[in-house]
Amino acid sequence: MPSSTLTRTRLATVLVAVAALVPALVAVSPARAADGGRPGISKKHFGTLAGGRKIDVYTLRNAAGMRVRILTYGGILQSIEVPDSKGKLANVTLGFDNLSDYVKKSPYFGCITGRYANRIAKGRFTLDGKTYRLATNDGPNHLHGGAKGFDKRVWKADPFVRGGSVGLALTYTSSNGEEGYPGTLRTRVVYTLTRDNRIRMDYRATTSRPTVVNLTNHAYFNLRGEGNGRILGHELQINASRYTPVDQTLIPTGKIARLGGTPLDFREPTAIGDRVNSGNQQIVRGGGYDHNYVLDGRGLRTAATVVEPDSGRVLKVITDQPGLQFYSGNFLDGTLRGTSGRLYPKRSGFALESQHFPDSPNHANFPSTVLRPGDVYQTTTIYAFSTVS
Ligand code: GLA
Repeated sequence: MPSSTLTRTRLATVLVAVAALVPALVAVSPARAADGGRPGISKKHFGTLAGGRKIDVYTLRNAAGMRVRILTYGGILQSIEVPDSKGKLANVTLGFDNLSDYVKKSPYFGCITGRYANRIAKGRFTLDGKTYRLATNDGPNHLHGGAKGFDKRVWKADPFVRGGSVGLALTYTSSNGEEGYPGTLRTRVVYTLTRDNRIRMDYRATTSRPTVVNLTNHAYFNLRGEGNGRILGHELQINASRYTPVDQTLIPTGKIARLGGTPLDFREPTAIGDRVNSGNQQIVRGGGYDHNYVLDGRGLRTAATVVEPDSGRVLKVITDQPGLQFYSGNFLDGTLRGTSGRLYPKRSGFALESQHFPDSPNHANFPSTVLRPGDVYQTTTIYAFSTVS
């Protein structure tokens, strides 16, 4: 490392340490947020939970002017401001401007989802001969970690500036038995905003006893800007030739089926709205798209690309996970008022959740989600933003 970089890194570390002691709005980067040229991160009070715990919002900014806001509540990506093809910024993720709405009505906007993202059938699984019971908070099934999952926990935050990137490391220790899951799970999620407009999410977890784990981020996107209509014109491409069909309660049947010839096939870029109302049994069951795609290839690779033709904004989801849940915002119903004060109608946001397959603990033919003491759960997903003209 050249010595100037080293000095700057040290300076940043000292500033981070000092900033942690100052309560109100603090700049913890070597640069002030207004200077435009360098990455920075600042912290502000966002709200107070009923029990008195204070929640902060961190604003990350890169040299290109992209801004990302992250809450210590649920590790929520509260806002993601990216340029369109003319350089105009808009917030492309759905959310709220206040804590109370996140606590009372959020359909998992932007949150870290765990311990088990997506569904576990009947809230039950057996591991090493012992059966565990979890909350059933989605009809007969367990969804997104239960009654009080990772989306509703307060995360400890450590900001950092490293080279041209700026980030926030979030940690949360989930105690043995929390929400019915075995093992104390030590979890760390590092969000990094890079100089080239990528949000990188590095997840890590270790356990004290054998358990299951499946973490994701549940951001909803509208590349026209949140509150700016529906997402039906977004062109989506998913690098998957197979998926896991579901029963009436959206639990995988266990089959891994080919997408070819079905309206769920997104191997060629296709507008989300083109086939979303099709009579296909799977689409009818999901009320639209709400399916796990079995990604082609292995390792960190592009899973999906979304192009919004009017703004020219492009989102790529890059992940090392085996699956991707594509959810077309079917449960949004026009009652939630979002960050900029506008209502969110049905299908005004979509989610692309990198993950292990739903209900894996009950399907021996799916990749395993078991984590044992001494092993490290580690996974990376990137939201990469760019534009086409
Ligand atoms: C996931 C699920 C959906 C729905 C949303 C949140 O995408 O698969 O069925 O629960 O989360 O509303």
